[in-house]
Amino acid sequence: MSALTEFYEEVALCQQCEIAKYRTKVVPGEGAEDADILFIGEAPGWHEDQQGRPFVGPAGQYLDRLLASINLKREQVYIANVIKCRPQGNRDPLPIEIHNCRKWLDRQIELIRPKMIVTLGRYSMAMFFPNKSISKIHGTAQKRDNVIYYAMYHPAAALHQQSLRQAIEADMLKIPLLLAQAESVAEAERQPQQLSMFEV
Ligand code: URA
Repeated sequence: MSALTEFYEEVALCQQCEIAKYRTKVVPGEGAEDADILFIGEAPGWHEDQQGRPFVGPAGQYLDRLLASINLKREQVYIANVIKCRPQGNRDPLPIEIHNCRKWLDRQIELIRPKMIVTLGRYSMAMFFPNKSISKIHGTAQKRDNVIYYAMYHPAAALHQQSLRQAIEADMLKIPLLLAQAESVAEAERQPQQLSMFEV
């Protein structure tokens, strides 16, 4: 059994928060185990709760189109959420739910080891860019410990607001270049070692 499959089985048993009682299905996340990019949304909505899959409602269809704009399919990336159960009535996640669920997200990051973590919306942004405002930092990247962190608006917000829509579409288009740049820096860092191997 793959480490991710084992992970999905464990998450399905989680009853730590009150909302676990009301879920139809847990929504752990999905995508490629070796994905370069991990997208992190907020919380499952009604469609996601029904299917047990992230971003399958209208916001998800928009996310699929955004991914297509950089020639990616959802199977080539990994998509997760800050919390894995649907808050009733689609209310915002509570701090305690975010706290309880953090261990699952941390484990996902350890298992997937993405080169880039893209936060979608305020809740996931707050985890990686504390005390920042999304209107200021969307579309900007930070590199820490060899991972690129990149904040974007939430597709559900962008879907209904023209100005955010232009921003999210432009921000998505920057992702391939950011990844390529990080790759060329990593390659340059590997180079001297390779040379020294030849010299010995
Ligand atoms: N919105 C999210 O943040 N996550 C989903 O999975 C669906 C909608």
